This record gives sequence, C-alpha cells and structure tokens, in this order.
Amino acid sequence: MAAICSLLLALTMSASNANPSSDTETIEQRVNALLARMTLAEKIGQMSQVNVGDSYIHDYLAEGLRAGRVGSVLNEVNVDVVNELQRIAVEESRLGIPLMVGRDVIHGFKTVMPIPLGQAATWNPDVVREGARVAALEAATGGVNWTFAPMIDISRDARWGRIAESLGEDPYLASALGVAMVEGFQGDDLSAAGTIAACAKHFAGYGAAESGRDYATTNVSRNELRNIYLRPFKAAVDAGVTTLMTSFSDIDGVPATGNEFLLRQILREEWGFDGLVVSDWDSVRQLQIHGLTENDKESAFEAATAGVDMEMHGDAFSKHLEELVEADRVPLEAVDTAAANILRAKFRLGLFDNPYTNREDLPDIANEHALATARRAALQSVVMLKNDHDTLPLSAENLNSVAVIGPLADAPYEQLGTWIFDGDSELSVTPMHAIHSLVGHDVDVRYIRAMENSRSRVTEAFDEAVQVAAGSDVVVLFLGEESILSGEAHSRADISLPGDQAELVRRIRQTGKPVVAVIQAGRPLTLTNIVDEVDAILFAWHPGTMGGPAIADLLFGVESPSGKLPATFPRMVGQIPIYYNQKNTGKPPSPDTIVHIDEIDAHAPQLSLGMTAFHLDAGYTPLFAFGHGLSYATFDYEQIKTSAAKIQPGESVVISAELTNTGAFTADEVAQLYVRDLVGNVTRPVRELKGFRRVRLDPGESTTVSFELHTDDLAFYGRNMQLMTEPGEFHAWIGGSSETELRTEFRIIAGD
Ligand code: NOJ
Repeated sequence: MAAICSLLLALTMSASNANPSSDTETIEQRVNALLARMTLAEKIGQMSQVNVGDSYIHDYLAEGLRAGRVGSVLNEVNVDVVNELQRIAVEESRLGIPLMVGRDVIHGFKTVMPIPLGQAATWNPDVVREGARVAALEAATGGVNWTFAPMIDISRDARWGRIAESLGEDPYLASALGVAMVEGFQGDDLSAAGTIAACAKHFAGYGAAESGRDYATTNVSRNELRNIYLRPFKAAVDAGVTTLMTSFSDIDGVPATGNEFLLRQILREEWGFDGLVVSDWDSVRQLQIHGLTENDKESAFEAATAGVDMEMHGDAFSKHLEELVEADRVPLEAVDTAAANILRAKFRLGLFDNPYTNREDLPDIANEHALATARRAALQSVVMLKNDHDTLPLSAENLNSVAVIGPLADAPYEQLGTWIFDGDSELSVTPMHAIHSLVGHDVDVRYIRAMENSRSRVTEAFDEAVQVAAGSDVVVLFLGEESILSGEAHSRADISLPGDQAELVRRIRQTGKPVVAVIQAGRPLTLTNIVDEVDAILFAWHPGTMGGPAIADLLFGVESPSGKLPATFPRMVGQIPIYYNQKNTGKPPSPDTIVHIDEIDAHAPQLSLGMTAFHLDAGYTPLFAFGHGLSYATFDYEQIKTSAAKIQPGESVVISAELTNTGAFTADEVAQLYVRDLVGNVTRPVRELKGFRRVRLDPGESTTVSFELHTDDLAFYGRNMQLMTEPGEFHAWIGGSSETELRTEFRIIAGD
C-alpha cells in the first residue's frame, strides 16, 4: 500500500512538475516510467479484458486483479461494484493500475436516443454529439469509463441487422456523425467526470458481410476499402478517438483480429494512431474457428503480432503470450507497445489520478436535459417518405376521432430498439400516450393493437381494427419491426414488414379512410407492397425513450418532419446492395434503356432488352433514395453557382445555391452537396456527398446555402493506393436529396 501511495505521489509530482503545455509528453513520461517497473506478466495482464456482468466479484476476478492479470473489465454498471473492483486493482495490486470499465453504451444509457441509424437520419452532428454526451454522463454514474461506440461500419445492406447500429451507407455522413459521437462521449477533457473513452468499431469492413448475414465473410477490394470503408475510421482517429475495436469478419482472407495490414500498416504506420486496439468479443480465439490458426496459442501469436493490444473476453493472451514471448516468437517490444497503448488510454482518462466514481459529480439520470435531448433527436430523425394530398399534418381541431392501430403504438420496450443493455423502458413515452396527451379531449383516440407483435400471423383482431378504422376520421397505423429483429446477429433475408402487417394495411385501406403509416424499424424496409396502400408514411426507426412525443408532434404538425434517409430503401431485396454512390459502369441504365418483365414482347430478339445495368423486374432505381425526406414546407433550390470555373490543386471552390421555403410551414431542411469526378485514375462514383447543412426557414424565407470544397476534399485512392486529386472536370449538385438535378460544373487544372 505504501509503495502504491508513493508511486501515485511520484506520478502526481511528475505531472505537476511538467510543463503544462506538454500534456502529451507528460503522459508519455508517465507511461514509460510505469512500463519500466512492470514484469512481463503484468504487461500481459493489462492486455486482458474480463467480463463481470452479474454485480458480483468472483474470487478468480479479485485474485486476478490483485495479481495484475486484468487490465479492463466489461459489463458491470453497478457503481459500488465497479468502485470496489477499482479499489482492489488500485490498492491491492503491486502497481496499483486502475481499470478501464467497458460497456456497450450505443445510443444512450437509461435515457435512450434513437438507434444510431435514426440519429444518422437527423443529419445533425449537434444532435448526435449531445446524445452521446448525455449517454456518457449517464453511463459514468455506473462507473463506466469506456463505451464500445460509435459503430462506423459503412452499411449498404439493409438485411444486415447491425445496420441499425450504423450511421448508414455514406462515408462522408458516417464520418461527420461518427466524429460528433466521439466528441460527445469524450468531451474536451477525457479526464473530466462524465466523459468516457469512445471506441470506433469494427475495424474494418464488417458492414460488407455477404448477403447481410452477420459475421459472414466480406469481399471488399483494397481500393473500395480505402475509398469507402476506412474513411470514417480515419476521421475518428483524426478526431482523437481513444480506442478502436477489430471486426469479427475477415478481409482478403485474413480475419481483422489478425490482420497486420489493417492494424499495423494502415492504423499505426499510415495514420499514426497511438490509442488502444481491443479485439471484439473472443475474436482472438475465433482466429482458430476461421481456420487461420491451429489453436489458441497460435491465435494469440497472430493477434499480438498483428497489433491487437487487448483481448476482449478470451484467454488466449493470458494463457499463451508469456510463453510466446519467452520463446522469442512474439517480440517483447510488441507486448511493450500494447501495454503502453493501454496505459496511455488510462492516463488520458485520468484514471491514475481519480479511479473512483463519485455519483455526486454527475447529474441525475433521465433529467430534463436528457429527455429533451432524446426528444429532439427523435423529432429530427423521423423521415416522411410520402405525404399524398397533404394527409399530414393532422389537425386536432378538424378531427373528431383518430384510430390508432398496430403492434407498435404502445410498445415501450420495442421503441427503444437494439442494444439497450441499460435502457429503461419505464421511461419510454409511447406514441399512443403522447397522442392522447397532445390532443386531450378534443379528439377521440381509439386504440387497438390488432397484432400481438410485429411478426404475428394471427389475424383474429383485424375485423375489430377495421371496424374501429371505419368509424374514425383518420387511421394511424403503427407498423414495423420489434427491436429484436435488428441488431447483432439479427439479420433478415426478407426485409418487408414481418408477419401479417401488409394484410392489416390492405384491410384497413378498404375502409376508404385516410391512412397514415408510422413505421418503427431497425433498418430500411422494402415497402413496395404497402406504399400505395397508405396516404402518408413517417419512418421513425426505433426512436428511443421520447419517440412517442416526437411522433405525436410530427403527426399533428407541432413540428415538420425533417429527417433524411441515411441509407437507400430498395424496392426489392434482390436489388441489394443498392446505394446512391455507385459506379457508372460501362452500361449505365436510363429510363429509355430499361424494359419491365411484364412488357417484354414475346418475339423480341434477345439483344433488344436494354443491355444496361438493371433488373427486369425491379428496374434500377430505389423505392426511396439516399437523402430523401419530405417536409410540411416545400423547399425550392435554384441558382446554383461556383465561385470559380477553374481551380488549381491546393485551392478551394465555393458551390452555392438559393434555398427558399415556398410553403406555409416553418421547417428545417437539410441541404446536400454532391460531386462527381468525371474521369479518374480509377472509376469514380456517380455522385458523392461532400457537404450538408440543416437550416430552418420560415415561409417565404430564403437563404444562400454554400459549401467550400478544397481540392483535398476531392482526393481519392487511385490504382496504386495513393491518395490523389486529379485535374479534370467535376459536376456538383445541391438539393434536398441525392436525386437532385440542380447542377453546376468546375474544373481542377494542373498547378503552375
Ligand atoms: C460483440 C460486438 O460485435 C461488439 O460490437 C460489442 O461491443 C461487443 N460484443 C461487446 O459487447
């Protein structure tokens, strides 16, 4: 104990003696001083993360902590237990090294924000940052100092259950929002109370799982890896993310957890990351199951030499690393580097100076600000996909009755979505309750669940639902997916509305009443079979604790919908992968070159069928495009301009357009900038998002939306995997979705 106190004193003194402007150096000195005192076993101990999970400290864990065999724990959020774990580590181990305490705080802790994909639909970094900030403050009350978020895997496949946890299909949007999440979790000072280390995951390519089956292999070319999948990770590293997690999947035949190309060449050598890399859950030992190694010892060898610093829940490192180092197979230097990366993260978190959690330093759970943040996020995340005949907003004054029908109208747990280990469904305000409190006694709200859950095939209650609908002025159908249908390992091959929901829609349609569908789901769904059966659709993702009030406000026009799709909605599953930033191909389709299967002339020669890149039964366009989202206002974009027709490398161009609210409703709009590089050293996407801005406009109000583009913003990885910006012609579009046609051009000309 005395030794620990004197060590802490020495470390504190060295910190206070240091030049305050050289914090990094101070941390480096502290890391090195500590490392110099550690045995090989203690260094390897830091590399092990142990699951706790049941608010009980088992003897083996306490002994491991005392012996310095545990660097981190996960899945314990009882603050007394966590403080006791810290106390054992700090006071009863030889070197008194505190613990990193990890937890999946993915979209909130007790107060739940919309699922990350829903947050991405806000296209609002401020909302996303604040959501993460609230989550960090709440999670910190449980002693958590490390979250395994954000997940910034690019996802172009809505079958993949984890698309719910992603920030969508686009690298620019996922980068901007991923960085906002990192900032929200980590704050300006990682050592302050209520800030926690973020973890950019899963490095890398996990979202490309074949056929959207979670954990399946990925086939991503190196060029696509760099131009698409790695970009959000580079942005997170540049933003100072403390940790990264490897992916369960393999890439180019090498599982990410043993992938030296990813973990050393790209992450450390090219990007200079000096943070901590943790494996995914038991993914070191899974190297054997992948067929990369023969046994756990070889798995430990592959992971440690590839650059994994810490093994999450597994014992390959703890059982075999010491022997591997002693046999000169794993260089001692690799263990030193890993231990240093872990210690550096702990110093950055301020754990050596203050390992304990004091509840009094932190605000209350689910306080007014937390709930308001969740409500604002939910409000901005909802995307209005269609609104025929201005069915929405509903008017409480003009309605006598509204039928609220469906399995998700009053489902407090389901609206929270996937990954809510700590989410408190008792805090949830459901749409049904929120509608009641919004309209009071002015409107008769008639609720019928109609289906036990979203997957139900029992249609007995449909007759009653039809009766209620027929007797009401308008029907609001609450459809979608329960939370268990998305998330990790919860992939679907058919992503239409599950169970007999489409039949319910069809039956309700027959009443002739206006029908609004509010869909809560963890992924884009194929809505082709119901889209024409309803008048309006609000797509609400899983909107979290305050989803109900947000949905009610939108239904009744307290606010206008303003979310925009962060992922493409296919017409049919067979179109997947379908995404807006596709390549042109040598045979791009157009309305003139496609033929529908039902219109093929029986005598048509084989070669008459278009000969372009489309499906005979689905065409080539999505049901709803990336960036799409309607409003109660109408927004006109015009007068697109560039500040210069030609720029040189190193210069910038400003692209601008006039945006006017030509409607009668004050509303937010998300203006989007897309660019196409017409000729490239490798083929370039037909459009790429390069900027976006959320603006609020009153009726009749105009603003100039302008985006500055530096030539570096147009850089891409070419044939030799070099980042390059090429001279040549560029097209630029501004508008309210990726389908905007408002275009201008500029050129990059060779420098002087
Ligand atoms: C496995 C998941 O892939 C990862 O994202 C998560 O953080 C860990 N389990 C810990 O729960």
